[in-house]
Amino acid sequence: MSSLAGQVVIITGASSGIGEATARRLARGGARIVISARRQDRLDALARELDPTGANVFAIAGDVTNETDRQRLVRATLEKFSRIDALVNNAGYGTRGPVEIVPVDAIRKNFETNVFSLIALTQLVAPHLRAQRSGTIVNIGSVAGRIARPLSSIYDSTKHALEALTDGLRGELKPFGVRVTLIRPGYIVTEFVEAANAASDKYLENAGPYEPFMAGFRLGYQKLRRVAGHPDDIARLVQHALTCANPAPRYAAPFHAKAFLFLKWILPGRVLERITRLRM
Ligand SMILES: NC(=O)c1ccc[n+]([C@@H]2O[C@H](COP(=O)([O-])OP(=O)(O)OC[C@H]3O[C@@H](n4cnc5c(N)ncnc54)[C@H](OP(=O)(O)O)[C@@H]3O)[C@@H](O)[C@H]2O)c1
Repeated sequence: MSSLAGQVVIITGASSGIGEATARRLARGGARIVISARRQDRLDALARELDPTGANVFAIAGDVTNETDRQRLVRATLEKFSRIDALVNNAGYGTRGPVEIVPVDAIRKNFETNVFSLIALTQLVAPHLRAQRSGTIVNIGSVAGRIARPLSSIYDSTKHALEALTDGLRGELKPFGVRVTLIRPGYIVTEFVEAANAASDKYLENAGPYEPFMAGFRLGYQKLRRVAGHPDDIARLVQHALTCANPAPRYAAPFHAKAFLFLKWILPGRVLERITRLRM
């Protein structure tokens, strides 16, 4: 596959951040895109902006954790465009807080969005790609899928799960001509932090014995902002994965993401833990 033109691409989590940037980039490149997320008003505005004719950009609001919504997304894509060439599994958010304190229901909800729903949507799309013996699945993982940090291990473990899932799925779908890749963003300025705060503030603000470490934890994110990337850094990689002859198993951006992954590779575990440890 060498051109975006005409490819039918489903993008989840397209109402902001990386998904929105990916929608913009792929639409500019001539792809026919289906954008999905829960906030209908955002999707409709984006669809109108990218393609006022409605011929090549299609917005379908839905919650990725809802089976009916997932089925509707795939069915509506096929009704509109009669095929699917790619799925960008991007919808996700992060729950933070000490493992000891965050209720298991909240942890389960994070896995439901970031992992189980991604698997379920992939199960709906894969038969179509397999039958046409072509297509690409791009999973948006994270550097956090390789490096887990204290107070972030719930979100980080969802992204660790995606690492294994993507690797196995790649091997399963390869004989059918379907390509599967993982993108590991570093810190990117999006609405991610706001969404993570909304999901986690009640745990971070009532952290009991972990309270003294909270300021240091939040400061860590503020420091990261200095090296943060732009959502289009990731959208560019999605475009590359959809258009190159043979996508790499995994990609990372921006530069600091590659640097952290390199450190994970070369440093002894204990040294890395000293870098990521809780500080007051
Ligand atoms: N920003 C970073 O630093 C960073 C780093 C590494 C990885 N990532 C990953 O990149 C992906 C995109 O995040 P982002 O940074 O672009 O954050 P974002 O701006 O908060 O975007 C998240 C998107 O996911 C959608 N979403 C969340 N829950 C959903 C649900 N239940 N059903 C449908 N859509 C849902 C949101 O839309 P609605 O609220 O409208 O549903 C939104 O469009 C996530 O998987 C995230 O884990 C981000």
